[in-house]
Amino acid sequence: MHLPLSEMYNEPDDRNVLDRMRQGVIGQPLDRPEGALKVSGQATYAAEWRIDGCVEGVLVLAEIAQGQVTAIDRDAALARDGVLAVIADPAMTRRSAQGMAAKAPQQDAAKVEYFGQPVALVVARTFEQARDAAVALRVDYADAAEPVPFDPHAPDVKVEAPSSSKPVEGGDLDQAMRDAAFSVDVEYDTPGHASAAMEPHATIAQWQGDSLILHGSYQMLAYNVKEIADCLGISPDKVRIIAPYVGGGFGSKLGITHEAVAAALAARELGRPVRVVMSRQQVFQTVMRRSETRQRVRLAADAGGRLIGLGHEALVSNLPGEKFAEPVTQATEFLYGGENRLLKVEVARISRLTAGSVRAPGEAVGMQVLEAAMDELAEKIGIDPIELRKRNLPATVPVQGTPYSSRMLTQALEQGAQAFGWSARQDRPCQTRDGDWWVGMGVASAARVNMMVPAQARVTLRADGSALVETDQTDIGTGSYAILGQIAGEMLGLPMARVDVKLGDSALPPGAGSGGSFGAISTGSAVLYACEEIRKRLAKILGCAAEELVLKDGTASHGDAAPRPLRDVLGGEDLTTTGKIKPGKTAKAFSQASYGAFFAEVGVHAFTGEVRVRRMTGVFGFGRVLNAKTARSQCLGGMVWGIGSALTEELAFDTRDGHLVNHDLAEYHVPVHADVPAIEVILLEERDAAASPLQAKGVGELGICGAAGAIANAVYNACGVRVRSFPLTLDKIVPSLPDPFAQTL
Ligand code: MOS
Repeated sequence: MHLPLSEMYNEPDDRNVLDRMRQGVIGQPLDRPEGALKVSGQATYAAEWRIDGCVEGVLVLAEIAQGQVTAIDRDAALARDGVLAVIADPAMTRRSAQGMAAKAPQQDAAKVEYFGQPVALVVARTFEQARDAAVALRVDYADAAEPVPFDPHAPDVKVEAPSSSKPVEGGDLDQAMRDAAFSVDVEYDTPGHASAAMEPHATIAQWQGDSLILHGSYQMLAYNVKEIADCLGISPDKVRIIAPYVGGGFGSKLGITHEAVAAALAARELGRPVRVVMSRQQVFQTVMRRSETRQRVRLAADAGGRLIGLGHEALVSNLPGEKFAEPVTQATEFLYGGENRLLKVEVARISRLTAGSVRAPGEAVGMQVLEAAMDELAEKIGIDPIELRKRNLPATVPVQGTPYSSRMLTQALEQGAQAFGWSARQDRPCQTRDGDWWVGMGVASAARVNMMVPAQARVTLRADGSALVETDQTDIGTGSYAILGQIAGEMLGLPMARVDVKLGDSALPPGAGSGGSFGAISTGSAVLYACEEIRKRLAKILGCAAEELVLKDGTASHGDAAPRPLRDVLGGEDLTTTGKIKPGKTAKAFSQASYGAFFAEVGVHAFTGEVRVRRMTGVFGFGRVLNAKTARSQCLGGMVWGIGSALTEELAFDTRDGHLVNHDLAEYHVPVHADVPAIEVILLEERDAAASPLQAKGVGELGICGAAGAIANAVYNACGVRVRSFPLTLDKIVPSLPDPFAQTL
């Protein structure tokens, strides 16, 4: 049997290596090893490092939307108590990359492209002094000669095809719509979203000679090192980033942000460490937004309820020149049938803060709209919405013909229906009343692409029989520490107490980073491969084949030989190796995605239109479950975001200058405890060898992808009001509510 230890993942590795191990820790719902540190305040987050001589920087944001900075009154600022420097350099005002592989466009000095863009940093001995001087700093501007609009639907807005995605076209959609026995042609709006990570962005920068050390909060360290080096014009090997704990990212920390560059520049100028912590308002205003979308969905079905045509076209927005365009139709490409199709994204060039990756870019908003439109089609055809979905799962990806690696969608729909009690659902709206509340149920599919990215991890089996896993992989709350330790523990036959995991330091081998739900499978596969190599070396020491080697509870055995403690086998030597993986042919040869189904029951207040989610069930299939507790938490968190996306979350921009109005958590409404009911999460077991040698697929973002659609469908089922503009706030519902005194209709 060959060991596919080559870096490129060209062939599905169907050996199911992990299933043949004996330790029994993989998949277990184990606590995260760093959990106690986090809940007791002992985990050190970016702003919390104590570094001698550190001074404080506060960013100053532009108070015009578009133009140039013409003058900054440095002297007045420097005359204030404690103020040490005023930094204004194009490298810190220019946009951060805001997404993988997107290089920050070069900008002229101090150009302002949106309201709230950072234009300066004031550094002082104390935070209060810096904040005071930052507020007082006088900045003069000249307005732009040719401003771009603030509104993506403005008549003079420039609309472009994004370079990041190509339309999918097949057959003749217009003809299919004409031929259809049943069809829908609907337009939905979704608003902008904020990542709203709990930990605001923060960086402490210090120089040692010509080398820079950053303590910060980032998702992808190896990539972030390159970005910082690029911004400062220094070599990447002169940059080290340390980020062992990250208080959430949701895409907002994929790329470096202004505070990192500003801190590095200030620390260089002052010759001492500088800390820059963004306020919550600054995070909202400058870091990143999910684009609002306008989506047209066309569904054409034959008399048997089978899709013959499918159209999904979206208008999103971003600043002029930015590469990223919310990939709204990403899952529509492979989810349902309908050979006659048109899937297309266009981007409106507007002046609002940079749009970028926010949790499940594409599917988060694309799926909720597609799934709401599917509900509309099911109603027209007069079949159960679950049945409609099951009838329309293609054998291969439409137009492209690519086979699916694995797909648990039917199982998720069926098992979810059972667990949720779907059979109690009324086909027609306004059939169930609970006091003043109309009650209804809705369903939606979940789908999210699976991606592998290059990753490395070093594993050391130490002479004392314990193991150390090292990689720059971050843990942004997702469970990287737990699952990477479990993979090593399983492979090396060690209880978790004897596995140490060191993460979040760019001096360590480059993992995948945390993003796109790819961290676990990519970096986890690198750990797996490193452990396989160590097993081979152990087998050699013991004089057996690697396949015969049995490692359990810190002992090694083979055949009839008695188990020997690893410490004895190792004879004082460490075994260390670096595992590597890169995406190869399997990435293109198979359509790879994680799937699931959402079920929601809501109450709609018959008089006020207020919506409350009463309960939710999510069922998910994403290959091997690496840790049933952390995976469940990811799904749960995604469904909570689904509640926000359906009912409360919406970035509001002033139409006169594009500034973000609701730039804090008081006005941007993420769901709070009282908004979140009992949520049931069911994890399906699956093996997907095409996705990774772990037979696992990504799960991080899956729980949001479609969840809001199930809630919107439940709202319709409850009260008969179809709102095609998210979030479904009561002002949009109440005008169309039926007679509140009727008990059924
Ligand atoms: Mo995710 S939006 O790739 O952090």
